[in-house]
Amino acid sequence: MSATTVAAPTGQPPDAIAVDFESLAKRVDDAMAALESLDESARAVADEVKAAVEAIHRAGLVTIVQRMRADEAARAVLFDLVDDPVVHLLLSLHEIVRPDPMTHANRVLVTVRPQLQSHGGDVTLVRIEDGIAFVRLDGACNGCSMSSVTLRNLVESALVEDVPSITGVEVLPNEPSPTLIPLESLRIGPDPASEGWVKVGPAASLPNDELTALSLSAQSGQQAEIIVVNAGQRLSAYRNECAHQGLPLDNAVLDIDNGTLTCPWHGFCYDATSGECLTAPGAQLEQMPLRVDSGEVWVRVGT
Ligand code: FES
Repeated sequence: MSATTVAAPTGQPPDAIAVDFESLAKRVDDAMAALESLDESARAVADEVKAAVEAIHRAGLVTIVQRMRADEAARAVLFDLVDDPVVHLLLSLHEIVRPDPMTHANRVLVTVRPQLQSHGGDVTLVRIEDGIAFVRLDGACNGCSMSSVTLRNLVESALVEDVPSITGVEVLPNEPSPTLIPLESLRIGPDPASEGWVKVGPAASLPNDELTALSLSAQSGQQAEIIVVNAGQRLSAYRNECAHQGLPLDNAVLDIDNGTLTCPWHGFCYDATSGECLTAPGAQLEQMPLRVDSGEVWVRVGT
């Protein structure tokens, strides 16, 4: 469990109810580990006590959530609370809210990972888009041997069967790394538009230390919602979709000092120049090829 400190609500002295989440989580983990050393009948009693206490907590939480949802003013507070990581964790542990698809899928992958690793393979969930989970497979999961096909099927059936919002799985190529755009795709030929390049405008028109959201259409008709990040005059273009839940990044916060871009929805934080997600390792923004040619910025939307 991650370390989080729960702050006191506005108007209350922080020390009054500040909770060290890490200590609480450790206390639970220690108690659970101690249960393992009990003999079978003692463990059965302890499990029953735990289940009974959890049932009371769940019943109370369900009542609180139902009452808050029924009241207009309280509903806004409830939505705010659900975005708090600790509250979200508590409610999802009691299955009162569903974990977001990325979290849910990552939890499912934890269950198949030992089997993959015992065959020298591994899996990374990159993003979920329109019900499709995009994964990257490593080691023995790659290739076309029988065992790699079996491991891939294992990942696919676990995700599709256990995560209701996932209907399919697509395997992303491992090379080149998604943070690297092949040089080939950065070349602008004599007829850029026919190669999917779209002229964004003069580099000087993209404000320094800001991000600009744009809607681009390629000659082929392909369209893309993108953001161009100008971090200290270093330009990067990304598809305008957060790797968490695919929500737009128009209002993301660009922190030039730290070189980060933070999604306004649930706070996923990215390296502003590579798109690598610093919150959820393995996730990342989809980078779009960008060139500056004679002072004009071009972004490649199609092929
Ligand atoms: S959509 Fe949830 S953090 Fe961006």
